Amino acid sequence: QLSNLQMEESSALRIAECRAKGGSPGFKVAILGAAGGIGQPLAMLMKMNPLVSVLHLYDVVNSPGVTADLSHMDTGAVVRGFLGQQQLESALTGMDLVIIPAGVPRKPGMTRDDLFNINAGIVKTLCEGVAKSCPNAIVNLISNPVNSTVPIAAEVFKKAGTYDPKRLLGVTTLDVVRANTFVAEVLGLDPREVIVPVVGGHAGVTILPLLSQVKPPSSFTPEETEYLTNRIQNGGTEVVEAKAGAGSATLSMAYAAVKFADACLRGLRGDAGIVECAFVASQVTELPFFATKVRLGRTGAEEVFQLGPLNEYERVGLEKAKKELAGSIQKESSHFRSVV
Ligand code: NAD
Ligand code: LMR
Repeated sequence: QLSNLQMEESSALRIAECRAKGGSPGFKVAILGAAGGIGQPLAMLMKMNPLVSVLHLYDVVNSPGVTADLSHMDTGAVVRGFLGQQQLESALTGMDLVIIPAGVPRKPGMTRDDLFNINAGIVKTLCEGVAKSCPNAIVNLISNPVNSTVPIAAEVFKKAGTYDPKRLLGVTTLDVVRANTFVAEVLGLDPREVIVPVVGGHAGVTILPLLSQVKPPSSFTPEETEYLTNRIQNGGTEVVEAKAGAGSATLSMAYAAVKFADACLRGLRGDAGIVECAFVASQVTELPFFATKVRLGRTGAEEVFQLGPLNEYERVGLEKAKKELAGSIQKESSHFRSVV
């Protein structure tokens, strides 16, 4: 007599074998913070992604319910749930890609930096788990403040001796998604036709859209440039205020996270020409981390692109962005070094 759990395990194995025979690459993906506002829609969208064969859902609360729910979807990925720190190792073992949206979100009146004290500790613990159980996985870090959590994750991996800068990617795709949407509105285009590079970091003035490099090539009046830059830089706050205490962007973030994770998986599969913006270790400026376009490949961010030509407005914006970003990186990484 097979228990429900044994039957589920054996059908999961049959599905995985079946997919392997069909030549599907079938990547293994873990979501840490999978029961949260971002985590749940992100888990659902990853369950629908044909590149995913196994999906591990980890959280400190509610992951069994989310897992049971998603496991009834008739898509290929096999879903397994993991609850609490004693199951972190099992959640992470064998993973190709780890997506981290764990941590507290902002409320109106807060900056992303206000989340640092809580989220730094969460990211530290989770990255220690990655270093131990899947040191070769690509990490997509969503938890805020991204400008500081990425340097923190780098410190954890360095301490564990597993740091590979190509595999640690801060997710800034939501800034690009917003920029594409707002620019398309101004130009009267379908947002799917618009690509706006957004560089720098992921907070306030560190979010620097390069409107001079928009595709298709477009020109903007000074008023349009000012409006678009401000709206893109404050897109997160716009949602936080509209949600009025019930959290920050979750649905658009889940969409953006899946767009980015899918690009990472296509890179891992060996597809050519996969380029996205991300906050990574960088030599593009004098700062150790910076968001620019990167080329994603079998080993992560294999190429970090230069900024390209900037206009005067963007050059001024770049100086402001670097000043603020330098503070976030330096302050947080030195704070962290003292507590590791
Ligand atoms: P949420 O509170 O709805 O969900 C967070 C989840 O993390 C919860 O389920 C919680 O139980 C879980 N969690 C807490 N501690 C954990 C731990 N130690 N291990 C595993 N899971 C843990 O918050 P949310 O709206 O999903 O936002 C999550 C984070 O993402 C926030 O820090 C937010 O600021 C950030 N965020 C980033 C971007 C971006 O563009 N990078 C966009 C939106 C939100
Ligand atoms: C966003 O840009 O929506 C996120 O970083 C969440 C926030 O706090 O604004």
